[in-house]
Amino acid sequence: MSRPLIAANWKMHLGRAEEALGLVRRIRHPLGRIDGVEVVVCPPFTVLPLLAEVLGPSPIALGAQNMHWAERGAHTGEVSPSMLAGLCQYVILGHSERRATGGSTEDDAAINRKLKAAFGVGLIPIVCVGESGEQREAGATDDVVRSQVSLALAGLEPDQARRCVIAYEPVWAIGSGRPATAAEANRIIALSVRGAVAEGFGEEVAQAARVLYGGSVLPDNIAAFTAMPDIDGALVGGASLGPEFVELVLRVSAER
Ligand code: 13P
Repeated sequence: MSRPLIAANWKMHLGRAEEALGLVRRIRHPLGRIDGVEVVVCPPFTVLPLLAEVLGPSPIALGAQNMHWAERGAHTGEVSPSMLAGLCQYVILGHSERRATGGSTEDDAAINRKLKAAFGVGLIPIVCVGESGEQREAGATDDVVRSQVSLALAGLEPDQARRCVIAYEPVWAIGSGRPATAAEANRIIALSVRGAVAEGFGEEVAQAARVLYGGSVLPDNIAAFTAMPDIDGALVGGASLGPEFVELVLRVSAER
């Protein structure tokens, strides 16, 4: 298995300079000493340039939480791929909290355009997929996840598909305190996420792509997920907003 990847999605928190710096100053040195785990912090746009400057070349990578696919134009409120390219290495695309807006910049076709645009400027996408509670109850999990993965990656070069990070985040598990069980997450990732990648790009690419689990991940449950053969790390919301994030990354490192 590749080096585990733990990504912090700050969502719409810690977007003022002093609060972002406050957390980064507390976590950067302890995280810098942890071996064998890749860490990515995805703050709001407002503090991305500041954190890029403060972190410099650092073991902590940065990511954005969204972007538009277009390079420029009349897109009020949007941020383009090349605006991000010098500031961060990763970009979260297709998070369920954005898909839920139902807008045409967040449907499967738009997310696919964003993935291609990300690779065009050298950013690695962290593309989010996952079923809602109703879809799960209707037994549609495999269909929903498979379709989201294949539409997001459609038309990529095999080498790009291999470098994608895919986050399986069941919507019902996000912020609910009710994570999927590690066994269930591993099952969906192996069957539906890697299965869809294999259909499009072959088994070797499907095994090489990094797949994360997200949804109510905490220091106390992270090790169960990263111990699973098909789970390469986690996308963490609430538990990434304080010093407990260091504890969470330490638990992953201790399992190596
Ligand atoms: P929580 O870890 O707060 O459940 O959020 C998960 C998430 O949406 C990360 O992108």
